[in-house]
Amino acid sequence: MLTIDELKVALDADAGLVRAIDGLSTAIRRGETFALVGESGCGKSMTALALMRLLPDNGSVTSGRIDIEGHDVLALPESSMRAVRGGRIGMIFQEPATSLNPVMRVGEQIVEAIEAHTELRGEAARARAIEWLGRVGIPEPQRRIDEYPFRLSGGQKQRVMIAMTLACEPDFLIADEPTTALDVTIQAQILDLLRQLQREQGMGMLLITHDLPWSRAWRSRWR
Ligand SMILES: Nc1ncnc2c1ncn2[C@@H]1O[C@H](COP(=O)(O)OP(=O)(O)O)[C@@H](O)[C@H]1O
Ligand SMILES: [Mg+2]
Repeated sequence: MLTIDELKVALDADAGLVRAIDGLSTAIRRGETFALVGESGCGKSMTALALMRLLPDNGSVTSGRIDIEGHDVLALPESSMRAVRGGRIGMIFQEPATSLNPVMRVGEQIVEAIEAHTELRGEAARARAIEWLGRVGIPEPQRRIDEYPFRLSGGQKQRVMIAMTLACEPDFLIADEPTTALDVTIQAQILDLLRQLQREQGMGMLLITHDLPWSRAWRSRWR
């Protein structure tokens, strides 16, 4: 269970203090999907970043509580937070191109994540990476694992990000506008993939969008 209780986040901007989140409360169980929908600038990404404790330097949680499976996230030392990030909560961002390292082969990046968050090492981690590339629909994963990100389309990069995030077997997944940067035809495919994997893995999912028509489409697909 992921619970957010009366969360408040403030950002210290040039124009003054921005109260980006002003008392948000919700709870997401494993296996459940929670859609956070709202106009641009309403604080959706700050919510995601607060959960991961990755707020910008000028931002901070001013009050409230975040609890993951009984752990008080805001009280954890940074060293424990590194295991939570990626391990308990995975995150997929809007822009897959900027989340992947352009000078590292995609396989190396996935293997690095797997080795950081699971017991697998070396060839076993590589085999798991290939397996995940196949599961997210990358054709010829044995060959494409050694490709650099620039060789992949936007949709394929987002698939790689999903593979990298889910290969670490998180309990919860935050997807912050995961399809906004993609072509409309690809958006539906990525969404279907997320839904399928969420069911298979039994993750709790926080799905974020600014796009109300899309959130309706998501709802109908999610049934
Ligand atoms: N680094 C920052 N410094 C100051 N204000 C910021 C910063 N990043 C975002 N904001 C402001 O915080 C509010 C919430 O932003 P955000 O969570 O990114 O919105 P969204 O719902 O579009 O994801 C917005 O008003 C935005 O202008
Ligand atoms: Mg945002």
